[in-house]
Amino acid sequence: MRITGRTRLAGIMGWPVSHSRSPALHNFWLEQNGIDGAYVPLPVPPERLEQALRALPALGFRGCNLTIPHKRDALDIVDRVDPMARRVGAINTVIVAPDGSLEGRNTDIFGFRESLREAVPEWEPAAGSAVVLGAGGASRAVIAALVEERAPSVRLVNRTVGRAEAVARDLAAPQTDISVRPWSERAAALDGAALLVNTTSLGMSGEAALAIDLSALPREAIVMDIVYVPLETPLLATARQRGHRVVDGLGMLLHQGRPGFEAWFGTAVRATRELRAAILTTLVPR
Ligand code: ATR
Repeated sequence: MRITGRTRLAGIMGWPVSHSRSPALHNFWLEQNGIDGAYVPLPVPPERLEQALRALPALGFRGCNLTIPHKRDALDIVDRVDPMARRVGAINTVIVAPDGSLEGRNTDIFGFRESLREAVPEWEPAAGSAVVLGAGGASRAVIAALVEERAPSVRLVNRTVGRAEAVARDLAAPQTDISVRPWSERAAALDGAALLVNTTSLGMSGEAALAIDLSALPREAIVMDIVYVPLETPLLATARQRGHRVVDGLGMLLHQGRPGFEAWFGTAVRATRELRAAILTTLVPR
């Protein structure tokens, strides 16, 4: 890396932030493209988020990513947010406009769609129902992408039904029927589905495996897990054995970074095999 008088800057704000793989991701792209830029971790406590975001233009930063616990609070601080990100209720990317104002985006929506398209190019959103497990921030981004792709039906399954009902209400759209199912009905919800996405933390290293009987899921269905440590979760291992096409969570992590990078550094980037391998080396199970 070469730091000159013209180095372009971006970073990630979180509290804590040291676990984030975004510096490895963005600095890989900077290096690969020979861009005079740097992407740095920015540890920012919640009470200083507004100050820190407002300082970006003054410090010459092109923008930043946001991680836990800032994704929701930042939505109310930035000057502009696209309507879908507002309905998701979170932003993970901030772009400093030429006039110094702040634009917020949710690139997890893009990340989910692109990683699924990359892994299964023939994915057809209208092929059948999608089953989404979980109702947190990641679930909202996944469902927003399915709504944007005009998926006809989403079955949303969550342990806390009220939380799922709030997601269904916030993301309601005429083209997509979002129905809520209790956790106890997760296996039955798979009947005839074309896509299953796990957005819960179950299956993550250090957590319990996701216990779900896949026998009602048609063999042609795609199974995706957004957990990426380990890369092959127990869910994906079982699905692979049953002959499903499986999509691991690393692709979503890589693709969600692209819109921010392109806006800050002015260069289009891709989630290559080489990038996957480089980021994989940073994924050490806890
Ligand atoms: P994120 O914002 O990353 O999606 P989150 O908001 O913490 O994360 O959401 C975690 C999801 O995993 C939730 O849907 C949670 O269910 P609840 O809404 O009922 O809390 C789900 N989850 C976590 N542990 C679970 C468990 N042991 N069994 C079932 N679901 C679980």
